[in-house]
Amino acid sequence: YSLRVAASCGALEPVAEQRVDCSAAAWRRLAQAQCAMAGSRRMDLVLQPNWRSRFPTCWSVPLTLDGRRMGVIQFGFSKTYEWLPREVELLSAAAERCVLAAEKARLVRDLAAREGQIRELAGRMLEVEERERRRISSELHDETGQSLLCIRLQLEMLEAATPENCAHLKSGLSEARALTESTIVETRRLISALSPAVLQQLGLTAALRQLAARLRQSHQMKLKLHLAPPRELGEQAKTAIYRLVQECLSNVARHSSALNVNISVTSADGRIRLCVEDDGVGFRVEEAAAKRGSFGLAGMRERVALLGGKFHVHSQPGQGTRVCIGLPLPVKRGRPDPGS
Ligand SMILES: Nc1ncnc2c1ncn2[C@@H]1O[C@H](COP(=O)(O)OP(=O)(O)OP(=O)(O)O)[C@@H](O)[C@H]1O
Ligand SMILES: [Mg+2]
Repeated sequence: YSLRVAASCGALEPVAEQRVDCSAAAWRRLAQAQCAMAGSRRMDLVLQPNWRSRFPTCWSVPLTLDGRRMGVIQFGFSKTYEWLPREVELLSAAAERCVLAAEKARLVRDLAAREGQIRELAGRMLEVEERERRRISSELHDETGQSLLCIRLQLEMLEAATPENCAHLKSGLSEARALTESTIVETRRLISALSPAVLQQLGLTAALRQLAARLRQSHQMKLKLHLAPPRELGEQAKTAIYRLVQECLSNVARHSSALNVNISVTSADGRIRLCVEDDGVGFRVEEAAAKRGSFGLAGMRERVALLGGKFHVHSQPGQGTRVCIGLPLPVKRGRPDPGS
């Protein structure tokens, strides 16, 4: 067994972390409160060897938690001093507190380490998710998209080649062509939602404008945009802002029944500020947070936390919703946003 002298105070020079070898039997004996006098065998249990000659009396108080031996506190006295039962009691109570404090500190440290691991994992998952989205998007574009275009072309040719007197067949082909065309449009929408090429090609401002334009088209809402993101943003920050606004607008479209929506992305004092506000039905934020199968708000919160930002949702039934996000401006990396 080896014990570690972790701290000391009083007459001693400060003790840096120091290992003290001790036999299993000694360790067992240390589990009992001891009062050791100079010259007695109990002095063997004094962890600091120089104490044995330095102090005529040493007290040992074990530190135990749920029956487990966690350590020992030792006191050295400059005169011979037998302890009294009351003092033993008092020291045992103090030792109990020390153990609880040490255990709490250990749990807090473990928790912080676990949180760090989870955060790192979540960051990796977001990266993997983005990569997978891009992969699916390009598969859809290169495979499904191309096949659909071929099908449309074939249907057009068949339709054109069908004699006028086969009205039934002609209308069937026309219907199939129309369905293929709407599937092509839907596939393009999916491709762009999965991996917004406009974000890479034209920049964040243009990509956000496109998101807003789509919402305007699909829902009868008035949208006001105030977009002034910082000029130079890395790919990670641009993607994060785009995904955050995308989720906010998806919620507005699906849940809010709003008539007016304000979207603003600005920057000041080294922070990016993002705010999406609607005048829709609103909701109880705590209830939404506990909702099973709803990941949008939780995902946004996590994404923001990963970037070291702040996330707030203000909402009440009947009073609209305001999502406010503050992100620290990342260190400049990558090309300036072409849309800014
Ligand atoms: N702008 C909004 N207006 C009204 N209700 C909203 C709004 N945003 C969120 N909510 C409510 O909060 C709930 C949780 O939203 P959240 O985005 O977490 O999940 P979701 O949209 O239901 O599902 P998903 O996981 O697909 O995003 C929603 O189900 C809705 O009831
Ligand atoms: Mg959602």
